[in-house]
Amino acid sequence: MQDCKKSFSVPFTHKPLMTLNKTDILPMNLFGALMLRAKAVAPSNIAIVKYWGKRDEVLNLPATSSISITLSKLKTEVCVSFDENLGQDEVFVEDERANEKTYGRVVAFLDLVRAKTKVNMFARVESFSNFPVGSGLASSASFFAGLTLATANALSAEFTFQELARIARLGSGSAPRSLLGGAVEAVAGTSKDGSDFEVLQILPEERVPFALLVVMVESKGKAMSSRDGMNLCKNTSPYFHRWLEYNQELVDIARRALLDGDIKTVGEVAEASCFAMHGCCMSAKPPLFYWAPNTLSVIEQVFEMRKEGVLVYVTIDAGPHPVLLAPFDLVPIVRERVSKQKGVLHIIEERAGQGAKVL
Ligand code: DP6
Repeated sequence: MQDCKKSFSVPFTHKPLMTLNKTDILPMNLFGALMLRAKAVAPSNIAIVKYWGKRDEVLNLPATSSISITLSKLKTEVCVSFDENLGQDEVFVEDERANEKTYGRVVAFLDLVRAKTKVNMFARVESFSNFPVGSGLASSASFFAGLTLATANALSAEFTFQELARIARLGSGSAPRSLLGGAVEAVAGTSKDGSDFEVLQILPEERVPFALLVVMVESKGKAMSSRDGMNLCKNTSPYFHRWLEYNQELVDIARRALLDGDIKTVGEVAEASCFAMHGCCMSAKPPLFYWAPNTLSVIEQVFEMRKEGVLVYVTIDAGPHPVLLAPFDLVPIVRERVSKQKGVLHIIEERAGQGAKVL
């Protein structure tokens, strides 16, 4: 029987790689009990128009639509084995037992899938990411997108694509966007039960006309999970409702600009959504700062380069690491400038990539 070991190449970590053959669905485990297993790989994504706020916490429905770019290198592999012999779910992240919070979220997700599929076996879930998890680089998006595909495949469940997207959303609101490649919109919808929530591809990966530079900066780690941060903003920020109205307006502008290949407008909208979201966080009580001092230095440098005529923009998810958007031909210049900045640890050159797939 094969183990669920990671099998992709790693742009960031220094850990040794293990190679793996394709994982198949094995009907029996070593003890002759029923076991259903599948593995999937899902990319991370970076939001250009952010999702920050929920209209229903139980269904994890976003309050506004959002748009992201699926990344080509940063990925998570998830292996799921439903096993008759298990007395409870088991969750491992990078070979370590998941902490209580992550375990609870995964079990809640599996419970929902079990209810939908009428399967009552417990599962063992193993995940490996090739980037630091919980650092604001959308690890919950890649994890839950991978978990959704692996789970559906293990159970041979016949979900439509939009049903899969709605299941992924139950795990994490940004996860459905990682199911598709390129530039992707998560349409919030308005129905109470979330049945009109969907994800749509705006542009396939080869038509996204800019690169993304993930700038890893020295920091003390992530201030608060996105989920807790959104709640804090909803309950305490005086700007929360205005933020939602403003962000929804940005979605239409960003979609149009992406379709037109208008990098300047995409960049301007990305910064507008990012700074409005972080402004909302900073106005919460207590104030929520995801940025480190080095984050601000990189932002300043981006503004500086723009004054010199370099077409480069910045966005930041719920963490300290800025992500820069620039046309492909400007990547060497931007990289050279930013890498000299104090506090910059590592730069990952990214571009739009493919969506999640079963391995
Ligand atoms: C800042 O999808 O992690 O990255 O639905 O509570 O799991 P939950 O939140 P999550 O939030 C992502 C927030 C963000 C913006 C974005 O990706 O759109």
